[in-house]
Amino acid sequence: MPITIRRATIEDMLCMQNANLHNLPENYLFKYYMYHVLSWPEASFVATTTDDVGFGEFDELAAGANASRCKCDPCYVRPGEKLVGYVLAKMNDDPAAAQSQDALNGHITSLSVMRTYRRMGLAEKLMRQALFALSEVYKANFVSLHVRNSNRAALHLYRDTLEFEVLDVEKSYYLDGEDAYAMKKVLDTDELQPANFQRGVAQDDLETDLLQENPELLQEGIQKNKV
Ligand SMILES: CC(C)(COP(=O)(O)OP(=O)(O)OC[C@H]1O[C@@H](n2cnc3c(N)ncnc32)[C@H](O)[C@@H]1OP(=O)(O)O)[C@@H](O)C(=O)NCCC(=O)NCCS
Repeated sequence: MPITIRRATIEDMLCMQNANLHNLPENYLFKYYMYHVLSWPEASFVATTTDDVGFGEFDELAAGANASRCKCDPCYVRPGEKLVGYVLAKMNDDPAAAQSQDALNGHITSLSVMRTYRRMGLAEKLMRQALFALSEVYKANFVSLHVRNSNRAALHLYRDTLEFEVLDVEKSYYLDGEDAYAMKKVLDTDELQPANFQRGVAQDDLETDLLQENPELLQEGIQKNKV
């Protein structure tokens, strides 16, 4: 099942909000999603699939059915493309911190993956893309986030897979009274290069002379083609 991880755009906002409402008790006004994407357009990412997902309620549109009967399915970004996960990220916009170096820190506002697409590495990939973008594009020195004490899946992802450190336990951080772990990861752009986390082909530095690296192959080719 092919999944694409790409930068989030304004067109994805409704689907991101829909996924957030499905997956998490921490919800936000639509304008807060817009604020993220308009202010830091390169920081948030979505995972989508086009594989065998049908058209949802866009079917009715595609079939030219009465438009007034057609409710567009909020899982679909567009006909045939379904959103299965997102990460919503931002830079620190606290005016009090603006004077200090702390202004250059990123924050993960929300992350979730639809239930049937979990345990496939999508959250890790979304997070790695966001961390790289915050570091490379917005020059964030570190990134912070909060997670519920009881959220084992997210804790494993942040602490063990992505190597965030736990800074503090914030008592009754959530509206229902649950405590949060405040976590932080120092960012290093070189380490975060997406190529470091992809299996397979090494990245071409576009500078090394590939033929000079393999003189035997070069000679072999020359001999073969000698007339
Ligand atoms: C937390 C969540 C985003 C993880 O998404 P995912 O795509 O399943 O995660 P991944 O497949 O990338 O897994 C990343 C790591 O977490 C581990 N993990 C994922 N789900 C887990 C679970 N339920 N229990 C324990 N570990 C889990 C994976 O094994 C993997 O570890 P590894 O690197 O050692 O192999 C997803 O469960 C979710 O959307 N939960 C509801 C929303 C939520 O809690 N968001 C986080 C708010 S802070």
